[in-house]
Amino acid sequence: MADDCRDNAQPRLYADLAPWWPLLSSPDEYAEEAEFYRQCLLKACRPPTRTVLELGSGGGNNALHLKAHFELTLVDVAPAMLRVSRSLNPECEHIHGDMREVRLGRGFDAVFVHDAVDYMTTEPDLARAIETTWVHCRPGGAALFCPTYVKETFQPSTSHGGHDRMLRSMRYLEWTRDPDPKDTTIVTDFAYLLSDATGVRVEYDRHVLGLFPRTTWLALLAKQGFLVAVEQFKPSKTESSQADAGLYDVFVCAKPEMAG
Ligand SMILES: C[S@@+](CC[C@H](N)C(=O)[O-])C[C@H]1O[C@@H](n2cnc3c(N)ncnc32)[C@H](O)[C@@H]1O
Repeated sequence: MADDCRDNAQPRLYADLAPWWPLLSSPDEYAEEAEFYRQCLLKACRPPTRTVLELGSGGGNNALHLKAHFELTLVDVAPAMLRVSRSLNPECEHIHGDMREVRLGRGFDAVFVHDAVDYMTTEPDLARAIETTWVHCRPGGAALFCPTYVKETFQPSTSHGGHDRMLRSMRYLEWTRDPDPKDTTIVTDFAYLLSDATGVRVEYDRHVLGLFPRTTWLALLAKQGFLVAVEQFKPSKTESSQADAGLYDVFVCAKPEMAG
């Protein structure tokens, strides 16, 4: 197995294959869920809700839809993904950083952590990401965490998809399973078929993702000081960013006014 396919390596989709991201996950597919997240933020945040920090903003697909409503600051650990997002959202501020440790030295009305939180594979890492969110959320502000799965909603799955854009096309097979149900990780293996002017090639990629029970999420968020409600997002149709058309837990958090 190539070095960059080791369990703990950064997924190739966010490194050498990042330019292919928009052909795997098309920005148009995020309109419905971005609107759901916007409504959740508005409900939990004492107005105004103007400045929003996104941790793990990836290719900027949610940002494309949210930027019409908020002033966005986008943070990601992968420089190649920041490049993809900058080309889609040139008007947004982009910052290189790890959600477990980044400190920007300013507060935001809301902090949004979408599926990038899936890459927190241990409880201490998840707690660090929650602390980063808390530190950047002003009192009275809101935070949103949107893991793809919690333990209670996880189902092994196989899906496929892909898009065509200009002279390039991608088709992929995505296979998600839980090799060891006793630990806090699951694995998604991808086979990508990449077509461009040079021909078609196949590439392999492994993503190791965290999986935690709802009770772990609620305990860590409460320990940090957040007031939490669990909402559920149900997509109206299956999209490539959602492996199945199930229900997705969204942790909607309010930072109390009196919090420091
Ligand atoms: C599935 S993509 C996010 C896509 C995003 N939801 C969008 O709207 O385009 C996951 C992202 O999480 C980022 N990520 C993984 N671990 C991270 C960390 N520790 N800190 C910040 N970003 C991280 C990856 O670099 C990748 O860009």
